[in-house]
Amino acid sequence: MEDIVSLAKRRGFVFQASEIYGGLAGFYDYGPLGVELVNNLKAEWWKAMVREQDNIFGVDGAIIQNPKLWEASGHVAGFTDPMVEDVVTHKRYRADHLAGVDSTDLKELSKLLKGVKSPDGNALSEPRVFNMMMKTWVGPLEDETSLSYLRPETAGSIFTNFQNVRETMRAKLPFGIAQVGKAFRNEISPRDFIFRVRELEQMEMQYFISPKEEKETYERWRQFAWKFLTERLGIDEKNLQWHEHEADERAHYAAAAHDIYFKFPQGFKELWGTHDRTDFDLSSHMKVSGKDLQYYDEETKERFTPFVVESSVGVGRMLLAVLTNAYHEEDINGETRVVLKLDPRIAPVKFAVSPLLRNKEELVKKAREVYTMLKKEHGAVIWDDNGNIGKRYRRSDEIGVPKHITIDFETLEDNTVTVRDRDTTEQTRVDIKDL
Ligand code: GAP
Repeated sequence: MEDIVSLAKRRGFVFQASEIYGGLAGFYDYGPLGVELVNNLKAEWWKAMVREQDNIFGVDGAIIQNPKLWEASGHVAGFTDPMVEDVVTHKRYRADHLAGVDSTDLKELSKLLKGVKSPDGNALSEPRVFNMMMKTWVGPLEDETSLSYLRPETAGSIFTNFQNVRETMRAKLPFGIAQVGKAFRNEISPRDFIFRVRELEQMEMQYFISPKEEKETYERWRQFAWKFLTERLGIDEKNLQWHEHEADERAHYAAAAHDIYFKFPQGFKELWGTHDRTDFDLSSHMKVSGKDLQYYDEETKERFTPFVVESSVGVGRMLLAVLTNAYHEEDINGETRVVLKLDPRIAPVKFAVSPLLRNKEELVKKAREVYTMLKKEHGAVIWDDNGNIGKRYRRSDEIGVPKHITIDFETLEDNTVTVRDRDTTEQTRVDIKDL
């Protein structure tokens, strides 16, 4: 983890938010390369989840919604974690983390934590539940009537827009609604770099179906997640495993849940969840809003409340998984190189271009031409004329540039350049017109 955090900072992927003020626990900023990588991940997901599908539509909902939405969704009552407090410092900790169990049962946690001290060596309070939604007040009055929440998941506005999307897109079941956006959780103990944060971004899709299609739909979206990670992001299967939720582990809305765990530096942990939400959401939104969210099937003449299968993954967690998967230290001729073996589709920089020597005008001029040509087409191209060629390759490797192109004296004679491959370090001569 230390190596990845250090690389992420050194090369402009991830910075601590408000670092010059000492940061703020659970908040991070993406730097120039981080934002490119994040955008590439989101674009790849959107392509696979929306553009390549016939019946999945996108939305972009507001972060603050009517607070009734979060009553109906169960988050006001149920989006809680067990917490204990250090009685001296008043620092708060996840009771289940301190007890080393996957449980939210307060009685069990209380028993397990008998005599356990806080990390600062002080006594702990009894465990109690803590709601993780971030509160805010809408408008000039700060009282119960203006209390609202920053959304804890993007799914909320997908459910409330079910009928809007169905009507405007003339959609028939089954169909899905997808959304990428920020969500906020007042995590008691944010940790492991960008793995558990308080401001996160999610990529979620809710697939609305007839209850008859529950099992096969669940299976389909479970497999989709695995295929996306392995085939489109190049994640090694060795780094992935399935984790099926036991009944006491499942979120309040889920009848079944399968996570894909990734081998993060701190161990195998949740990356991507597929949840069978049954008709929980639409039914409770109907109850609380009084609006009809049922579906009438013209073929079968049946009216019913659609079931939902959800696919949900965090962008930051995906970025950490991708960096961890790509990070390699290799020995080359007795020297260690750090190389990010990122799939070229998501690499933040596709090409680096260098003149062999920075003080030879003809070389620099020709290299600039190649750089401009590639930049027009790919955008994500960098110029590097600093230090010797070995150092340049190391710098490119460290940020995962798939191809490094060098313009040398031969280029001036025959218009060919050296293309060096990041993974194999092999160098080939390629005609500029074939680049
Ligand atoms: N709508 C369902 C939902 O929000 P979740 O399991 O709570 O389900 C889904 O979250 C995904 O969002 C997780 O698998 C993870 O990738 C990401 N995620 C959740 N909480 C997070 C946090 N505090 N920091 C970073 N990512 C988080």
